[in-house]
This record gives sequence, C-alpha cells and structure tokens, in this order.
Amino acid sequence: MGKRFYISISVAVTCLVVATGVLAIIIALSVMYAHERSKNLQSLPTTAERSSTSTASTTPSGPKGPWEYYRLPQTLSPVHYNITLWPRLKPNADDLYIFTGNSRVAFRCVSQTDLILIHSKKLNLSMFDGFHAKLKGLAGAAAPTLKKTWLEVPTQYLVVHLNDPLQPGSVYELYTEFVGELLDDLEGFYRSEYFEDGIKKVVTTTQMQPTDARKAFPCFDEPAMKAIFHMTLIHPQGTVALSNAMNYDPVNISVNGESLIQTSFEPTEIMSTYLLAFVVCDFAYIGTNPDADVLIRIWARRKATEEGQGKYALETTGHILGFYKNYYNSSYPLKKSDQIALSDFSAGAMENWGLITYRETALLYNPGVSSNGDKEWVAIVISHELAHMWFGNLVTMRWWNDLWLNEGFATYVSYLGADYAEPSWNMKDLIVLNEITDVMAMDASAHSHPLSTKEEEILKPEQISQLFDAITYSKGAAILRMLSDFITETVFSKGLHTYLEEFKYNTTSYKDLWKHIQMAVDKAGISLPHSVEVIMNRWILQMGFPVVTIDTQTGKITQKHFLLDPESVVDRPSEFNYEWFVPVTWIKTGGSEQHQSTMYWLLNKEDTNPELVLGDADWLVANINMMGFYRVNYDEGNWERLIAKLSSSHQDIPVINRAQIIDDAFSLAKANIANTTLALRTTTFLNKEVEYMPWQTARKNLNYFFHMFGCSEVYGPLKAYIRKQVTPLFLYYKDLTLNWTKIPDKHTDQ
Ligand SMILES: *[C@@H]1O[C@H](CO)[C@@H](O)[C@H](O)[C@H]1NC(C)=O
Ligand SMILES: *[C@@H]1O[C@H](CO)[C@@H](O)[C@H](O)[C@H]1NC(C)=O
Ligand SMILES: *[C@@H]1O[C@H](CO)[C@@H](O)[C@H](O)[C@H]1NC(C)=O
Ligand SMILES: *[C@@H]1O[C@H](CO)[C@@H](O)[C@H](O)[C@H]1NC(C)=O
Ligand SMILES: *[C@@H]1O[C@H](CO)[C@@H](O)[C@H](O)[C@H]1NC(C)=O
Ligand SMILES: *[C@@H]1O[C@H](CO)[C@@H](O)[C@H](O)[C@H]1NC(C)=O
Ligand SMILES: *[C@@H]1O[C@H](CO)[C@@H](O)[C@H](O)[C@H]1NC(C)=O
Ligand SMILES: [Zn+2]
Repeated sequence: MGKRFYISISVAVTCLVVATGVLAIIIALSVMYAHERSKNLQSLPTTAERSSTSTASTTPSGPKGPWEYYRLPQTLSPVHYNITLWPRLKPNADDLYIFTGNSRVAFRCVSQTDLILIHSKKLNLSMFDGFHAKLKGLAGAAAPTLKKTWLEVPTQYLVVHLNDPLQPGSVYELYTEFVGELLDDLEGFYRSEYFEDGIKKVVTTTQMQPTDARKAFPCFDEPAMKAIFHMTLIHPQGTVALSNAMNYDPVNISVNGESLIQTSFEPTEIMSTYLLAFVVCDFAYIGTNPDADVLIRIWARRKATEEGQGKYALETTGHILGFYKNYYNSSYPLKKSDQIALSDFSAGAMENWGLITYRETALLYNPGVSSNGDKEWVAIVISHELAHMWFGNLVTMRWWNDLWLNEGFATYVSYLGADYAEPSWNMKDLIVLNEITDVMAMDASAHSHPLSTKEEEILKPEQISQLFDAITYSKGAAILRMLSDFITETVFSKGLHTYLEEFKYNTTSYKDLWKHIQMAVDKAGISLPHSVEVIMNRWILQMGFPVVTIDTQTGKITQKHFLLDPESVVDRPSEFNYEWFVPVTWIKTGGSEQHQSTMYWLLNKEDTNPELVLGDADWLVANINMMGFYRVNYDEGNWERLIAKLSSSHQDIPVINRAQIIDDAFSLAKANIANTTLALRTTTFLNKEVEYMPWQTARKNLNYFFHMFGCSEVYGPLKAYIRKQVTPLFLYYKDLTLNWTKIPDKHTDQ
C-alpha cells in the first residue's frame, strides 16, 4: 500500500511490538486504526454513483422534434416481425465480418401520426426510390406515401416522415434491408472467436439487453413494445442456427453458387426485443429426451460437450425448472430451453427467452478440474436465469427504471432454486455472504442511490446501462428476502402466481407486484402494521438502511440511517427522512432456554419494548439469520455478554448471526459508532470456530486491517494473532481430510 501508511507510528505501536497478550495487540491495533481510519475511508469501495440523470437539454432552438427524445412516442404498437439475417463467418474483401438482413415489421397505429420512429443503430440501410424503407398497408389499409427518411444518430432512430397520416386501428408493414458489421464488441449481433485443435472458429451470437436489438435490425426497442418474432437465419454448411423458438427443418439453399443452410424458427411468444437471441455456431449439445415436456439442451464447444462439461447444467436445469413450476404454480411458458456456453460474453449470463447465453464458467462444470465453488456458481447462475423465464420474460417491467425488481427478484429466488437442486449446500444461508453483506457496505455510503428510480430519470442507453449495479441486484434481493420472510415464503409465492396470471405477455411496474402480494397477504390473514406498499416504499424509494440500537437494560430501541463515513453529508433528500419500518426479531437466552421472539415492528425513530430487556436472560441477539436489511448495535453490557457467549459456546448462536455479529461490529467501528477494540474482540472466538460463514466474514473484515497495516510495525503482531486463531481451524481440517487426502462431504467445508 501507499506511503501514507508509514506515518504516525505512535507510542502505542512501540508498546505493541513487545506486547504479547491478544487483548493488548487488539487495543494497540485499534489505536492505530483510529488514527488511519478517517484518511482511508475514502478509499473504501463505494457504489457506482449515478452521474447526472438530467435529460438531454439541448440549447433551445425552437421546439424539439419527436426524434430528439429518447423515448418512443406511444403512437404505434408492433404486432409481429419477420426477420431474415445472414451472418458471414468469414471476412469480406475489406476484411470486415458483416451480416446482411431484411425485416418486415407489422405495427398497429394507436393514434394518428404522420411520423414513424423505429430504433436502428449502426445499420447501413438500403435505399428504395430515395427512401430508407418501404411502407405498405395490411388488411385493406392504404399506406401513405413517404415524404422524407433519415437516420437520427444520437437517439438511434430511423425517422420516416409521411405525406399523409396513418389511421388509428389500421395495421401497416415497414420493410427494410440492411448491412451491419459483426464486431467483437459483445453488443447486439456480434462475433466471438475461439480456437479448437489449432483452428480459429467464429461464432455469431447476440446480447440485446438493454438496448442493442436495434443493432441487429430496425425495431421498436423498448421492453413494453412486445411482439411476435418470425426468425430466419442463413448460415454456412456445417453450422447450426439457434434462436428463441424451436427451429423447423433446415433447408439447403444456394446463393450465388454458394451452398448454404436456411433455418427458420417457429413464431416466438409475444415478447420484448431485449430478450431476443440468435446464434450460429458449430457447437454440439447434450439434451433431454425430445419427448420430454420441455426439451432441455446444453450447447457448448464440441470438445467441452464431449468431455461431459454440460452434464451438471443439464441435470440442474431439470431440477430447477421443476422447482419454479411449483413455486410459481405455473408451467414453463415455452416448449424448449436451450442454454449455450460462449467463450466471449460480457455478463455472467443473459436470460434470452428460450435461448439463454452464458459465459463458459457460468454453465460448464468440469468434474475433477472445477471446484465446488465453481459448481455453486453454475447452479446459482442457471437458477437466476431460469427464474427470469417467468418473472421478467413472461411478465416484463414496463421500463428500465424497474430493473431492480427484475434483477433483485431473480437474484433472491436463484438461491431458492439452487437450494432445491442442492439441498445439502445451505444456499439459503449463503445468500447473506454472497449478496447481502457486501452490498450493505456500498449502500452505507452517502452517495448510494435508491433502488427505484422515476421513469423520467432513465432515458438514454447509458443511463439504462448504469442501473445494472450491485444495489439493483443484491439490495433488491435482500429487500425481497426480507419481505418474503415477514409474510412467509408461501404467501409471497401465492402473490407471484396471481401476478403472473394477470400480466402474462404483458408489462408491469413494481406497484402491480405489491398489489398481488397484498392480495395474498389479505387472503392469508397476515396482519402487518401498514400495507405491503407503504412498508416497502421506505426500502425502495430511499437509499441506505438503518442501524437499530437496542438497549437491553431499558428496552429502548432506536433507528438511524447507517453511514460508514460518519462525516459524510447526505445531500439526497428523502420524503421519509431516512426512517424505515423495520421488522425486528431476536433470540434471548437464559440458562438452557432459548426464546425466539415474534416479529416486532420498529415504526418510529425510537420506541421502548419491555421484551427487549435482558432481565434474567444471558444475552440477546437481534435480526435472526440476518433476514432484515439493517445493522444492529447493543448496549455495552450485551456486547460483552455476546462476546463471552461466543467464547464459551458459540454454537448457541445461529451460524449466520455469528457472522453477522462480526460484520456488524466491524461496520459499526468503521462508522465510529462502536469501539474498534470491540470489533476485533468479536474475532477472539474464532479459534473454536470451524464454520465457513463466520470465518469468511472475519476474513473480509480483517483484510481491511491487513491493507491498512501492511507496511507498519503492527503487521507482524497482527499476523501472529491471525496465525494463532487459524491454527486450530487448520488442524481441524487436516484431521477431517485425513491429512489432506479426503475431500470433505460438506459443501462449505470444501
Ligand atoms: C417472412 O418472409 C419471408 C420472405 O422474406 C416469407 O417467405 C415468409 O413466409 C414470411 N413469414 C411470415 C410468417 O410472414
Ligand atoms: C456502412 O457504410 C459506411 C459508409 O458508407 C461504411 O464505411 C461502412 O463500412 C458500412 N458498413 C458495412 C458493414 O457495410
Ligand atoms: C444439405 O447439404 C448437405 C451438404 O451438401 C448434405 O449433407 C445434406 O444432406 C443436405 N440436406 C438436405 C436436407 O438436403
Ligand atoms: C395453482 O393455481 C391454480 C390455478 O390458478 C389454483 O387453482 C391452485 O389452487 C394453485 N395451487 C396452489 C398450491 O396454490
Ligand atoms: C396489459 O395490462 C394492461 C393493464 O396494465 C391492460 O390494460 C392491457 O389490456 C393488458 N394487455 C394485454 C395484451 O393483456
Ligand atoms: C475501547 O475499549 C477499550 C477496551 O475495552 C477501552 O480501553 C477504550 O477506552 C475504548 N475506547 C473508546 C473510544 O470507548
Ligand atoms: C496424519 O499424519 C500424522 C503425521 O504427520 C499422523 O500422526 C496421523 O496419524 C495422520 N492422520 C491420519 C488421519 O492419517
Ligand atoms: Zn438477471
């Protein structure tokens, strides 16, 4: 680390070097820590700040044309597309990889207009009589003649001006022909290359989300502009073409003497453009029996398929689809599920409806080479993408401002699906470690952002792309997990069922989901202090989360917006003044009795609850299994009792809460709310701990200390302390693995 860590070595440190007791080391560490803290907070990872969301306000020079706005006018509504694409897997004379294509889109006129705006990005459109497109009327409608067409590059439109208006209710067809380049830019229709047996192979594939379907063919490229798609792909002999729907039998065609294959696909369901996919490759697959209810195929490079690397994905997909069918009480919406592993892919995976694309590491599992952690990643990613087949694809957010719901939901339920597929892995616990604690650190910044954004604030493609962050995915998941916990998983899924039923093939906003969950809550007779919407608004419309402080002497309980940097200034106003409706649970113990509380709601800044008084009990730990998205602080007495309990019999405290105590204490110390000594003391019991979650949490938090002290005199004593704590763990696993010869059975032990 940088130079600034050398400075200010205080007397305390000199003492430290000679000190040997654990507590002495800890205290000296915390003195150093306090010194360095303020300077280094800035270097903590903070969440991706959204830059200005102001709309494109150009200097006023008369009224703006509709083509200068990033959102489509609501004048036209697509019905179906008929698209033919021909990607070239060999470069042309100019050394470019290109694709050619044509598209007919039938659309209904909703309100009278003499303007057609349709997205088109980086496509060279053919001209017909001086225009970029041809228009005709369908079902007897007469099409107006074209007046003027041009490409509006900033807003990515093909603009078509007509001499006469289109008539509401009539259906028209716009025809375009185009050439595009197959770049290796991982966007839209793109090219991916890999080597097999020393031979370069070219694959063409797609990544449309969020706004790149327009880079493959002209389309009304907004999620609510759902339509039916008839796809045809032309591709070389020896390759296979895949798309969202099942293919008809490929036919041989000849173009300019070249022998090619033409593969057409069954029409898709009514769907959004961002979920389209098409791939041309020479991959092989393994699959289920074609007579099965749903045909499942796992596609990969021939070598990888031959090595059986798709087997785990195939098995797991079957299990997880079965899980969701029950969970949503709704059958899989399509006839087939193709999943394909690509060597060049920007995200982890993409939930294209019926043809999910993955990075190789997120779909393939190579027994004997990949670790169990790799296997866990495969299970989670598959589970995440399959969840979208209903939630997101069948029912879609109306606009990108609701992305958090789509992604937060899939992230949450991916752990339920993975848990079903691998019941011994404790995936429902691991969500805390994998998603929740990290995003709490980000959301504790004064520059975080609320989950939900106003529709008007998200307009440009860049603004849409910025929404794909940890807050959207992980905090979204944490908030839905909390909701599902306080209304029960069964009621949550009942709400999902009616929501999917009402809105299938349609689009929604998050309020539609709250409405259906409320219906399920009412039906189940669950009583909440406020409606689902009122409770949840506090968590989604304002950034951050509270720290709940419990005084076990008096029963006083308070909440406060938790900020890691106590000096930071929150300049984003909140209509709720950074107060939340907090579902609080706790375990209280006296003697051998453990008492788990019922749900208590903290509805104000402060309250007093006599049940929180320790009385005869030994200790109290709140936020059982970290179901609530908040941190907990206690009076000093209870902290002491918790530390004592951890040292004497830590198993009495649930494993997630053991991790939570460490994480809360370190976070509170960073925020200057608790003593750093206290935080470090929550690690003293680790010499008896052999569970993964508390250790991993401690490791993450102590890592920070390692970085802070990497170049100081404290580094040696710190290392000595950690070695002392880790040694019993090492010996435990040495024994468990019979001197490192046997792989342990338990997932987290591995
Ligand atoms: C799509 O267009 C092709 C010609 O471009 C035509 O042969 C085919 O019948 C069309 N399909 C549909 C469903 O309109
Ligand atoms: C599109 O047109 C531009 C300008 O004529 C040209 O430079 C570019 O190579 C064309 N792209 C393709 C893929 O043909
Ligand atoms: C298409 O052509 C290939 C190669 O010439 C041949 O092997 C295949 O049988 C043909 N398929 C059909 C359906 O004619
Ligand atoms: C599943 O959905 C059907 C049809 O909506 C309903 O009749 C049935 O009660 C649901 N089953 C469960 C377990 O909720
Ligand atoms: C979609 O939902 C809206 C209500 O949000 C409804 O008015 C509309 O009829 C639905 N469309 C379809 C195709 O079901
Ligand atoms: C932190 O705790 C240590 C040991 O219990 C104590 O000596 C020190 O004064 C405390 N510091 C603060 C700021 O409370
Ligand atoms: C592990 O090795 C040690 C010697 O290094 C031996 O004493 C012990 O019995 C071995 N344990 C097992 C389970 O093989
Ligand atoms: Zn997703």
